[in-house]
Amino acid sequence: MHVIAFPRLRLVALAACLATLIGPAGAQFGPPRPKPSGPWMNKSLSPDQRADLIVAQMTLAEKISLLHGGGWQMLFGGPDAPPSKSLGNAGYIPGIPRLGIPDLQMADAAVGVTHSSVFGRYSTALPSCVAEAASWDLDLAREYGALIGAELRDQGYTMSLGGGINLAREPRNGRIFEYKGEDPILAGKLVGAEMKALQQQGIVGDIKHYALNDQESGRSYVNVKIGKRAMRESDLLAFEIGVKESGAGAVMCSYNLLNGDYACENNYLLTGVLKKDFGFQGFVVSDWGGTHSTAKAVLAGLDMEMPGNTYLADALAKAVDAGQVPMARLDNMVHRILRSEFAVGLFDNTPERQVPDVFRGLDVAERVAEQSIVLLKNADGQLPLDAARIKTIAVIGSHADAGVLSGGGSAQVDPMGGNAVPQPANTPFFERVIWHRSAPLKAIRAKAPHADVQYDGGTDPAAAARLAKTSDVAIVFVNQPSSEGSDHSSLSLPGNQDALVGAVAAANPHTIVVLETGGAVTMPWIGQVSAAVEAWYPGIRGAQAIASILFGDVNPSAKLPLTFAKSEADLPHPKLTEQPPPASDKDMVEMFPGYKENTRKFDVDYDEGLLVGYKWYDAKDKTPLFPFGFGLSYTTYKYSNLKVSKDSVSFQVTNTGARAGAEIAEVYATLPQASGEQFNRLVAWYKVRLAPGESKPVTLLLDPFYLSIFNADKDAWELVPGEYIVQVGGSSRDLPLRGSVRLD
Ligand code: BGC
Repeated sequence: MHVIAFPRLRLVALAACLATLIGPAGAQFGPPRPKPSGPWMNKSLSPDQRADLIVAQMTLAEKISLLHGGGWQMLFGGPDAPPSKSLGNAGYIPGIPRLGIPDLQMADAAVGVTHSSVFGRYSTALPSCVAEAASWDLDLAREYGALIGAELRDQGYTMSLGGGINLAREPRNGRIFEYKGEDPILAGKLVGAEMKALQQQGIVGDIKHYALNDQESGRSYVNVKIGKRAMRESDLLAFEIGVKESGAGAVMCSYNLLNGDYACENNYLLTGVLKKDFGFQGFVVSDWGGTHSTAKAVLAGLDMEMPGNTYLADALAKAVDAGQVPMARLDNMVHRILRSEFAVGLFDNTPERQVPDVFRGLDVAERVAEQSIVLLKNADGQLPLDAARIKTIAVIGSHADAGVLSGGGSAQVDPMGGNAVPQPANTPFFERVIWHRSAPLKAIRAKAPHADVQYDGGTDPAAAARLAKTSDVAIVFVNQPSSEGSDHSSLSLPGNQDALVGAVAAANPHTIVVLETGGAVTMPWIGQVSAAVEAWYPGIRGAQAIASILFGDVNPSAKLPLTFAKSEADLPHPKLTEQPPPASDKDMVEMFPGYKENTRKFDVDYDEGLLVGYKWYDAKDKTPLFPFGFGLSYTTYKYSNLKVSKDSVSFQVTNTGARAGAEIAEVYATLPQASGEQFNRLVAWYKVRLAPGESKPVTLLLDPFYLSIFNADKDAWELVPGEYIVQVGGSSRDLPLRGSVRLD
């Protein structure tokens, strides 16, 4: 899909340029907004009270106007695109000036603000979300969210579409890079911290895709089958924690069906669980094109249709008129939207546009990358490299001379200065592979100024091996492009990359592999290389961070937020469940409303239930390639002195090596037998920073909620009385401390 130039777009862009030329710094986009007035502007009232006051003043047409909007016009065009005041991103809902209701300007912003190039703006491309999760660091998640929030605000946006936490239940999912791994507590806490920080910038935050949209294949047609207990303790638990900890203003319901009903018209999901059980006060917005009905969706809990006006515009007015949707429900929909806007201060502090702080963005991006790169293997202390001793380095593959890879689809941040590896202009949107201009070759040369550093593109493994043979070390970069809209057909690296690594490793015993992948991949060559580093999609300062890790300026501290399987045969579903091919041309359907709903639905049975990721490997006694929670350091740590009480666990961590480092200490619990869950679950963790030889005591609270099971019969969480085994260590498969506690 390419960006089409519209005459009106040019006018809008021109107006923006003029405003910039003649207006003061921090100028508003378009004419100045009248200062809102009315009793709802009294800041001492709660967001709910303020929303009630304003809803009472609204006409039916005004109410309905807030429940749907335009979007994606810049990409898809159309006779009336773009709407006059849209900032050109995923969604736009005009406000109501008479009441001071601001515009909702929504931007996709999972790893940074997207579509900045439309008006020639700058946004920081952060490392991917799964990279952020590999830091296990709530402070860093806050920085991540605060930066995105600030850059949204600087560009005039009022709502973010980010916060993806679909669990890595299906590791071939093409959107794993947008999510936070396979553990519901880790993912939930991280998104909670990130969204809270984002909202503190005065932007409405969103958590998505609710729920169980764990694969892209047939995402609008797939009916996920899963039991209540299993979903509450896995995917829905991540949302429960995220929603409660962040107070996010919005939740995006997903494209898929869940146990027979579309997520966006699923009463159990939206009303029963999200609004009642989680106590979610904000609004539910459909994923783009994910609304399928009027009365059914609205009564199930959907509050906003995006983009378009098929179901929640005139059709909703008619449904209210016909008594199919009570006026009270309509008021509640509007209330929820306005409440979220009041809660983040949209009425009180309208974003003022200004140039984003590029330096801060680059700095945060580099820090996140440094703390998210996982050292997977380091035989014989191969790393860190000693720049003073190495004379020749071969850098091979993966466009390492040009840039670092990023993830595609709606999370794609426009690359600063354009794609470092240009693709044909007519490449479809979801197939674009974007490389950010952060070249590992240059960063490595900067760290080893006296070494002869040569590059080989890696297309011919034999040629790459020849270069490797005459070099002191060979650093092979490998990649796995991913995008929204499709899954990986397998966990293997695409193309000839496995053969490339094999050939280089056979030629040079000092072969280091740097992976730039969306999530987990298989590594048939792991036994032949001396070191391996998982850099994910490392963002605009990725190369600098990779070089800092390789040369030891940064001691790696990240741990895997998802399991790396040895092969697909070990997965709960060795084969990806794909959408059956259309029976005939007549069955070809479109993504947007109006398609024949029933023609291509298919089931995926998540019969592994709550055994997502490491829980599956533990319960089935399978050995992964690299376990959840695993990650090496250039120093070593010792765990000692475990004490477990009813509400806390304490232990000591010692840095037993010669370098300062940060160890992520992980606490797992196995529930009493009566729970039926005889496998570990992560219940707490802490990142301890330690100087060489230093010891620190760590005490972590044991949250009873994280030890509970969901009783589907009672529809409630409960703590099973009995003996809880608690284990502590540096990875889910390396837990040297073991104790237990009785809980009643
Ligand atoms: C994606 C969402 C995104 C929306 C708007 C959809 O295709 O699934 O994650 O926020 O588009 O761009």
